[in-house]
Amino acid sequence: MGAAITGVGAALPDKIVTNADLAAGLDTSDEWIVERTGIRQRHIGGTTCELAVEAGRRAIASAGVEPGEIDLVLLATTTPDQTVPATSARVHHALGLSGGALDLNAACSGFVYAFVAAHAMLGPWQRRILVIGSDTLSPITDQDDRGTAVLFADGAGAVVIEQVEGHELLLGADLGVDGSQAGILYCDHGGYLYMEGREVFRRAVRATVDSSKRAMERAGVQSSDIALFVPHQANLRIVEAVNERIGIDIDHCALCLERTGNTSSGSIPLALAEAVEADRLHEGDLVLLSGFGAGMTWASAVIRWGRGTALAA
Ligand code: ACO
Repeated sequence: MGAAITGVGAALPDKIVTNADLAAGLDTSDEWIVERTGIRQRHIGGTTCELAVEAGRRAIASAGVEPGEIDLVLLATTTPDQTVPATSARVHHALGLSGGALDLNAACSGFVYAFVAAHAMLGPWQRRILVIGSDTLSPITDQDDRGTAVLFADGAGAVVIEQVEGHELLLGADLGVDGSQAGILYCDHGGYLYMEGREVFRRAVRATVDSSKRAMERAGVQSSDIALFVPHQANLRIVEAVNERIGIDIDHCALCLERTGNTSSGSIPLALAEAVEADRLHEGDLVLLSGFGAGMTWASAVIRWGRGTALAA
């Protein structure tokens, strides 16, 4: 039995905060932020549930199915709206889905973790799964801290994956974590994100490169075979350093961080949805997804774009 991504969707809050807006209240500048991060603006607002519902609704509509035909929702988030219940329970209710719902937290690697998990959970009683990455980092970001306020934002993206015939979706993957580095990027309950920026940067480049290479090796493909690389949208300099080391041209990269900032679990599906909307993906194309995040976690997947043949109802 094969699988395919049959729908994608994204959601961003309406409110846009530009670098100039931030520079009006912080000791920073548009020039510094663009040069060090590549970010020009970010979207702020909404709840993790609201953004997840909007992205999920769009993904379901683009798959051309009814919400009740979704058999499971997997929500990757590091910013659940409440400790209890899982945010996915409210998402499930708001969308009118069938089957179960669960949250998964692997920080900014969360969407790829959830995607790989959902693929493994496809079966006769779960033929169609909604995978969402949604995060609202702005409430846990100290807006007076120039080291983090310029980076973190809010957003969501989603995909529908379903069982089909005649198409292999997931060719290779790599999931990992180094919990000894939990202290370089964390947020206590009720607190703000703490980040050792330079150390995270250094480790992010290495983790993304190594993980991407492992996923490609397991898939039996090379970087020259990749039609589109969808990296975690944290910092353009991280993406450029990774591209150089794995040998992928920036033209083959999906980028939205200039407009969105770092939306954690939302970032990879957001960039993927935009690429699909821009008609950048075609039947048979190989796509590399790769993320890193607090933990430190990392996750990569090589997928083949295409729809296959829908199963009989
Ligand atoms: N505006 C102006 N100056 C600033 C700002 C700012 N917004 N932020 C820091 N600076 C200053 C620093 O204070 C420092 O000043 P000093 O030299 O007088 O001490 C100087 O700029 C250089 O600081 P660095 O930290 O060395 O700057 P760097 O080039 O490393 O850029 C940044 C900092 C953007 C945070 C970078 O390190 C980075 O992107 N790190 C990775 C962050 C990341 O990806 N986090 C997400 C992880 S995913 C997740 O799970 C959420």
